[in-house]
Amino acid sequence: MNITDLKTQEENDFFHTYKRLQIEIVRGEGCYLYTSSGDKILDMFGGLAVNVLGYGHKKMNDAIKSQVDKYIHISNLFYQDKQISLAEKIKQLSGFDKVFFCNSGTEATEAAIKLVRKYFIGTGKITLVSFSGSFHGRTMGALSLTARKKYREQFQPLLPDVKHLEFNSVAELEAEINDKTAAVFIECLQGEGGINPAQAEFITKLNELKSKYGFIIAADEIQSGVGRTGTFTAFKQFGLDADIIIMAKGIGGGLPLGAIAGNKRVENVFTFGEHGSTFGGNPVAASSGLVVMEELEQGLMQSNRSNGDLLINKLKSVQQKYPDKIKEVRGMGLMLGVELTSTGQPVVDALMKRNVLVNCTNENVIRLLPPYIITNEEIDLFCSKFEEVISIL
Ligand SMILES: Cc1ncc(COP(=O)(O)O)c(C=O)c1O
Repeated sequence: MNITDLKTQEENDFFHTYKRLQIEIVRGEGCYLYTSSGDKILDMFGGLAVNVLGYGHKKMNDAIKSQVDKYIHISNLFYQDKQISLAEKIKQLSGFDKVFFCNSGTEATEAAIKLVRKYFIGTGKITLVSFSGSFHGRTMGALSLTARKKYREQFQPLLPDVKHLEFNSVAELEAEINDKTAAVFIECLQGEGGINPAQAEFITKLNELKSKYGFIIAADEIQSGVGRTGTFTAFKQFGLDADIIIMAKGIGGGLPLGAIAGNKRVENVFTFGEHGSTFGGNPVAASSGLVVMEELEQGLMQSNRSNGDLLINKLKSVQQKYPDKIKEVRGMGLMLGVELTSTGQPVVDALMKRNVLVNCTNENVIRLLPPYIITNEEIDLFCSKFEEVISIL
């Protein structure tokens, strides 16, 4: 089928939730996607922070195939060695104590909400706090935390007792957090919101208020985690005193996998049957995730830091040449944003014409989430195409 036929077919068959690019991908290799019309596209989006080892990663594919040959699903009625090995790696890399597996980011957020509810049941601590610009998922609990209007507006009523405070406003923390606060959900480096980092004094105040009121802090690391920013979790670099880590996207390297990890404080909250998931921690996804963790241990986090430095410095020099077009370049490791002074879609389109895939979030932020295996040559290639586009638009 050609693109026009695919488009017509989808319009007939699907709920209209996705706006597709008008190209057809036939395969991927390394940091590149190949189209049915013979184009080779440099992927700076990585399946929205999912394909951390790029495409066609041999070790990952072999691990998946080998698990498929054993069994693809046996249900959570059974012990599963791949799940256990993956949990061990997550514990080692995060320093946290217990893990629960699910299939996606929004499910991981739901698990964290349920954990918080049970932890404080009957205590009067009922308020959940999140921040402007945040994105925590699209199911009703997670969506209640997601502050960005465009995702939530049409789906009221959502959960009661949720407050959205201004991100980075110490004054709002002081005014709105109290002994009714059960939990604070935070992306220390916001993704959908436009690659916005939390400020040091904001995190310090949050930690201080946690000591005072005893709420739980849940760090949403779905986009920023799994080594992307140069450490396993971004929140550690911010000094956040988190009790729960919420993970998904890159954790399975491309297969559906989500997880929460909890510290000693929350490790025994759930008992048998109180939470679960038929597919959560699926052995094939866990085998893939295990390869991601092994590769992280082989130095990928360090290279994310150095590649991130290279990329951000090059982008900052483009900004210096075109300060009227680029407002700010920001981010950490391989999670970077270029805030433009005008809307980003023309830049996305012009880059796509040059076989480079990027995404624009929050109207004017070009978001870069490349695979961790990106090379210096690919960074150079991206930066030269980006500069070319900025110079002409
Ligand atoms: C920070 C953050 N939280 C939660 C989610 C939701 O994850 P999922 O789409 O896997 O449900 C996303 C997805 O973009 C995200 O970036």
